[in-house]
Amino acid sequence: MTMTQQSTFKPGKGIGQPVGVAVLGMGTVGTEVVRLMDEYAEEFAARIGGPLELKGIAVSDLEKQRPGVPAELLTDDAMSLVEREDVDIVVEVIGGIDYPRRIVLAALNAGKSVVTANKALVAAHADELAEAADAAQVDLYFEAAVAAAIPVVGMLRRSLAGDQVQRISGIVNGTTNYILDAMTSTGATYDDALAEATRLGYAEADPTADVEGHDAASKAAILASLGFHTRVKFDDVHTEGITKVTADDIEAARKAGYTIKLLAICEKVTNDKGEESVNARVHPTLIPSEHPLASVKESYNAIYVDSEAAGSLMFYGNGAGGAPTASAVLGDLVGAARNKVHGGRAPGDNTYANLPIAEFGEVTSRYHIDMSVADRAGVLAELATKFADSDVSLRTLRQEEEERHSRARLVIVTHSAKESKLAQIVDELSQLDYVHEINSVIRLDG
Ligand code: NDP
Ligand code: HSE
Repeated sequence: MTMTQQSTFKPGKGIGQPVGVAVLGMGTVGTEVVRLMDEYAEEFAARIGGPLELKGIAVSDLEKQRPGVPAELLTDDAMSLVEREDVDIVVEVIGGIDYPRRIVLAALNAGKSVVTANKALVAAHADELAEAADAAQVDLYFEAAVAAAIPVVGMLRRSLAGDQVQRISGIVNGTTNYILDAMTSTGATYDDALAEATRLGYAEADPTADVEGHDAASKAAILASLGFHTRVKFDDVHTEGITKVTADDIEAARKAGYTIKLLAICEKVTNDKGEESVNARVHPTLIPSEHPLASVKESYNAIYVDSEAAGSLMFYGNGAGGAPTASAVLGDLVGAARNKVHGGRAPGDNTYANLPIAEFGEVTSRYHIDMSVADRAGVLAELATKFADSDVSLRTLRQEEEERHSRARLVIVTHSAKESKLAQIVDELSQLDYVHEINSVIRLDG
């Protein structure tokens, strides 16, 4: 066990002193941050103990129309803005990794506190950013980076700091939930649903990050790091997106009483010797249609946290969009500004537990396997033997007639089995002459 905490005291500017703010990015999120900062300026001053003063806004295109925004506040030189003497706090809502990393590090090194909504940046460079914040004794806040308006980061950092978190699971990407929900409830096509999620401001600048599961993987890395006091990075997360989920899979799931959701699952894994490790994964998952996660619609997110003393907690709310994300950004901004006025800083991440990352093959799940097989005597018995030989125990097996003559559709649900065993059996099944097609293999949860 390693101790990584440093002293957190830093004297404040004093009550009534203004706090200078630079906002980097004025897209979906930045526009709402600036609007709400202006609309609730008096409330924020009262809550903080001094007024927030907007010193500048960095954008990429100075020619773009931005009604109501004073032109003199705009700049396309974010680096100069964050280094200005009169800026105390930098709000980064640009997105991407390399460019904001340089700017955020420069801001921290110059003694500015940073509030960011950028999960990709935090999941890739948390150690480096945390070290810079510690060295400069400033705050680094990122509540909006996970599940937008839902305060899960603060909940893990503060509210559950006295408990032992065992598992964090749920829906953490609004775009993919919007797409899967539209395909399930209205029969919308994947392309139409993605276009609508993009129009509504839920999707990332490159929506590949959403549909391939990368955005959810960044969030899973952040949640696992906070929950298990262990640094988990984007690359440590096993990630599968929703691009292979078909309308047929959704319909088959519905008929069997399940709903398909993209879940992020972070858990502590204990091996036969009692040694603990951490696993974080993102993949399409079947959940029973009566499970609360199944009723999470549109771009809403929902997260379960299982911890030793508190038991099971569920958090639900807006997981994407300008105003909900701005709510979380502004909550962090008020927190960072209070520290600038009154002194001190919030404790940073503490990765003292330093648990190893589990091998994905050692992780266990239940599986729903849908395949087309030859409709002849003996096939079921042979398949059951194959599963038994691979140490994968069957929970249910359902057979349906297929339209094509001499074929049957088999839907198997397994008991909990290791990923390595599942991979092995799927490989073996695909080589059998009486298995015509493996239509889908989807994990089950809930
Ligand atoms: P947008 O693409 O809508 O906005 C990005 C902004 O950054 C634009 O204003 C753009 O300028 C500006 N920008 C781009 N490059 C530069 C640059 N080099 N220098 C200065 N400014 C630049 O993104 P979002 O607002 O949707 O997202 C911002 C961040 O918030 C991302 O990290 C995202 O992951 C995160 N987030 C987003 C949520 C959402 O629902 N949208 C929810 C939670 C987090 P210009 O206006 O000139 O094009
Ligand atoms: N693109 C992200 C989503 C934004 O759809 O969830 C919120 O982080």
